[in-house]
Amino acid sequence: MNSEPTEKNEKEVILSGIRATGALHLGNYLGAVQHFVEFQQTENACLYFVADWHSMTTDHDPERLRREPIEIVKDYIAAGLDPERSIIYAQSSVPELLELTWYLAILQMMPELTALPNYVEHLERIAEGKENTKNNNLGLFSYPILMAADILGPRATLVPVGKDQTIHVRLAGKLARRFNNEYGEYFPVPRTTERMIKVPGLDGEKMGKSQGDNAIDIHLSREEIRRRYLKDGITDKNRRLMSNPGDPYHGCKSVYPVHELVTAGETEAREIATLCQRAQIGCVACKNRLVDNGIWRILEPFQVRRASLKSEEIVEILHEGGKKARRIISETLLEVRERMGVRIY
Ligand code: ADP
Ligand code: TRP
Repeated sequence: MNSEPTEKNEKEVILSGIRATGALHLGNYLGAVQHFVEFQQTENACLYFVADWHSMTTDHDPERLRREPIEIVKDYIAAGLDPERSIIYAQSSVPELLELTWYLAILQMMPELTALPNYVEHLERIAEGKENTKNNNLGLFSYPILMAADILGPRATLVPVGKDQTIHVRLAGKLARRFNNEYGEYFPVPRTTERMIKVPGLDGEKMGKSQGDNAIDIHLSREEIRRRYLKDGITDKNRRLMSNPGDPYHGCKSVYPVHELVTAGETEAREIATLCQRAQIGCVACKNRLVDNGIWRILEPFQVRRASLKSEEIVEILHEGGKKARRIISETLLEVRERMGVRIY
């Protein structure tokens, strides 16, 4: 797998999905959704979906499942995904994906699945009592095959995901090759992108829903975000007094790295780094500047747009997107059935 662009004038089919489990955080927003929006600027075909079937594999709750996909898609649209330029849908609107999952399951060897790190981590957490034993279900085990169907269904060429998911994209690529070898060249081998960034949480570790309490929910008010940073944002531990020079690049864990991502223009981020190195700005002021000039500059327009979206509009977008995705994926199914010798009588 590599991330070089394909030959000019070869159209990319870009696809990505997010599970509908809990509110999105700044890491999801900057690291995933904002890139999805940027890809729309090109001549590419973009497909973005809510992986609602995948969400069911852990801690399934029907009420949440009814509600959360709509909320996530509101976030997508408010962040700038445009149903005129991208196909936006829910995985469960495309039943053909489950049929494709079955055909791919035939090509998938068991030991390869049992060894996948994400699955092993779940089993460990279950064994330690940190996760519900119900999560050790066949759906969770076959998660990567459904994900391969998501990817191969529309014959995606580029799948922007975070590091933890690249192994699954690679698995989809292996299945594509296996299919092509057995039944003739058909699926492109999908690539991931190296452009994805890693947003640190308040504790300096990767921001994540399941990373303790280190995430900034993108629906928080400006003052709540400020309170979170002022209270828990870890800066340079070696800088005890404001008169000590700080080390923004290596010492500061959760504030300066986010300045680099959200503060308007590189010059301003560099100016902040210099002030910190010269002990001319304290951590409190630096955090305030991060919230007011950086994070809020992005989240305020997002929240305003989001508040104007109605659930009925989202249902309509998902309905139309589902129809489009289904048309594309059905064509793949016709071809796969034909090549694998499956007849619909
Ligand atoms: P979480 O890690 O909070 O459970 P997910 O695994 O559901 O989030 O990730 C959804 C998308 O957001 C993925 O593409 C993932 O790579 C991206 N993402 C999650 N956390 C971060 C982060 N801290 N920095 C950058 N991207 C992230
Ligand atoms: N497994 C991905 C995650 O947890 C979500 C996902 C499901 C996905 N199917 C996909 C991502 C297909 C990219 C392509 O984040």
